[in-house]
Amino acid sequence: MMFGKLYWEKVALRAQSIEDLRQAASRYLPRVMFDFYDGGAEDECTLRGNREAFTRLRLRPRVLVNVEKVSTTQLIFGAPAGMPVAIAPTGGGGYGRRTTDVALAKAAAHFGLPYTLSTSATASIERIAREAPGRHWFQAYILKDRELLNRLIDRARDADYEALMITVDLPVGGKRERDLRNGFRTPFRMGWKIALDGMRHPRWTLGVALRGFPSPENLLELDRSMNTVNGAMTSVGKSYDPSFDWDRLKEIRDKWPRRLIVKGVVRGDDAAELVKMGCDAIVVSNHGGRQLDGGIATMDALPDVLGGVAGRIPVFVDGGVRRGVDVLKACAAGASGVLVGRATLYGALAAGEPGAMRSLSILKDELDRSMRLCGMRDLSTVNGDLLATVSEHFGAGGHRARSLDSAVNFT
Ligand SMILES: Cc1cc2nc3c(=O)[nH]c(=O)nc-3n(C[C@H](O)[C@H](O)[C@H](O)COP(=O)(O)O)c2cc1C
Repeated sequence: MMFGKLYWEKVALRAQSIEDLRQAASRYLPRVMFDFYDGGAEDECTLRGNREAFTRLRLRPRVLVNVEKVSTTQLIFGAPAGMPVAIAPTGGGGYGRRTTDVALAKAAAHFGLPYTLSTSATASIERIAREAPGRHWFQAYILKDRELLNRLIDRARDADYEALMITVDLPVGGKRERDLRNGFRTPFRMGWKIALDGMRHPRWTLGVALRGFPSPENLLELDRSMNTVNGAMTSVGKSYDPSFDWDRLKEIRDKWPRRLIVKGVVRGDDAAELVKMGCDAIVVSNHGGRQLDGGIATMDALPDVLGGVAGRIPVFVDGGVRRGVDVLKACAAGASGVLVGRATLYGALAAGEPGAMRSLSILKDELDRSMRLCGMRDLSTVNGDLLATVSEHFGAGGHRARSLDSAVNFT
């Protein structure tokens, strides 16, 4: 046991970047699993676009500022977080490594960050509350079974979850061709290709052989077939409610007494409507490029959403965050913070809890370093003035970005 922990700590510490953790995850997992986490929909244009939008943004560092002491701390919903980051909901993490959800929640708590538990995670609402005390948000997909959804929401309330996150960009599942090609489909069949792949990744395969796949603990009552990975994927997918609309969201708003976050918004008009109906925060997201391929990159969508919100509620952005400097860029562009999906998932998959911790410590160290290099002592002074991007959305020299200053609302 002790030896195992030391081994995974060593794997984690060897990584110098999120990309190193991604590579480590790809060595640990068979391709069929790695591609499920890493891949995007169809031609993966939106997946790449998210990353490219961050790369296009450049910073104009301020010099001759005393940056001996800097703080990456940020208020999220009025409470301090170690950095303006929350863990995005990622379903199915336990199929790659059993401990993924708890590992991510523990790492988030260590860094003082909110952790979002996905409806289709392999740890239950109660287990996360018990085993990884900290700030928890619960992400709900809209299921056709209203009673079940209501029960999940009640359970999150009873377990003291701080916020409910409703994901709205998935009325139907995206077409992830890597999964289709690899045979990650239903019904899951252990064909020769997958068996061979498993032999090349004996640590993962041995774990599954000894303990099987974990279940999506929140959804056990949905379908008996949930105790198999493919059963889980099919049943969850088939259970989404494509008729979900504003009226139903309003019902959820009325039912949930705490913060309500809506995730998957890329338009200013939708954002303005969400503010009107009493939503407490928005996540600009395209689901990490996993659903609609051809959707706008999230950093490109951010200005429009900020315009619609006009500083009334916090706006987070996710998709493509792989460096601490990306967090700084998002804040400079007017976001209240970012959500990270794959960045921390790679760490947890590659090396369990030490890997999840490593991904957050890499991001935090890079954010701290980028702030010092930009002459920024704390995040309250970060705004569009720092952006040097020349893009159609922000305008040359950050002029458009400067006008977004009023939208920087960190609480
Ligand atoms: C493997 C995987 C599973 C995901 N599962 C969910 C989910 O259950 N609910 C949800 O709202 N978003 C889900 N997402 C999307 C993430 O919450 C987030 O929007 C996305 O990962 C951000 O992009 P990034 O991975 O580049 O950071 C998932 C993403 C991945 C990679």
